[in-house]
Amino acid sequence: MTDLQHAELDKDTIAKAYARWAPVYDLVFGAVFERGRHAAIAAAERIGGRILEVGVGTGISLPDYSRGNRVCGVDISEPMLRKAQQRVDEFGLTNVEGLWVMDAEHLSFPDASFDVVVAQYVVTTVPNPEATLDEFARVLKPGGEIVLVSRVGAEAGLRRALERWFAPAARKLGWRTEFAWERYAHWAAQCHGMRLIERRAMPPFGHFSLIRFAKTGTATPARAGTPSARAAA
Ligand SMILES: C[S@@+](CC[C@H](N)C(=O)[O-])C[C@H]1O[C@@H](n2cnc3c(N)ncnc32)[C@H](O)[C@@H]1O
Repeated sequence: MTDLQHAELDKDTIAKAYARWAPVYDLVFGAVFERGRHAAIAAAERIGGRILEVGVGTGISLPDYSRGNRVCGVDISEPMLRKAQQRVDEFGLTNVEGLWVMDAEHLSFPDASFDVVVAQYVVTTVPNPEATLDEFARVLKPGGEIVLVSRVGAEAGLRRALERWFAPAARKLGWRTEFAWERYAHWAAQCHGMRLIERRAMPPFGHFSLIRFAKTGTATPARAGTPSARAAA
């Protein structure tokens, strides 16, 4: 088995892990991810309109969207979403259209439903990151953007060694520590109509990046086995 396969996660493990995180998530990850969230929202609001936040979690970023934009939130963890709903009620966030339990890889929105798809600290926690990015591209309108804040694994050195060492424990907590930049770059190269427009290091210690992809035309995910890839073959 390769390192990559070793790093795969399954949805049950993730959902259980985040059900455990829900009561303390904001306390543990509130401040540490704040700059990344603010950068993602600033990028999303440059486009504005109807925004989908995938892996919205406890809804920690929802009050930061301007009331002029409509926001939809989805997450695989019901306990995390319950926290998000409390936040929507508490802050009176009338611009939040709805919160749904939904798998990022199988979104139940029609094609081209959103101007922006935001996913903060999510892509490396899903079992199939590339299929998930395909799904983001599908629900995005032409001219729209995917805005990620996501882990990018170190290519060498001490950080890479530490990431490899910590990987098995991290999977139990619901995320991957190793995730090569090539996976994002390769996805964009394969997914016709999507273009990488920004990669910017984010704290803590540049372990994460703000990553933006623009949808220039009709995105055609080109993964082998997808209907569009088979049709194109
Ligand atoms: C590290 S938390 C990030 C939460 C929030 N975005 C933030 O900025 O703090 C990852 C979130 O992604 C959700 N998640 C993991 N896998 C998912 C999937 N397949 N579909 C939807 N949400 C998922 C988890 O339940 C969790 O709420």
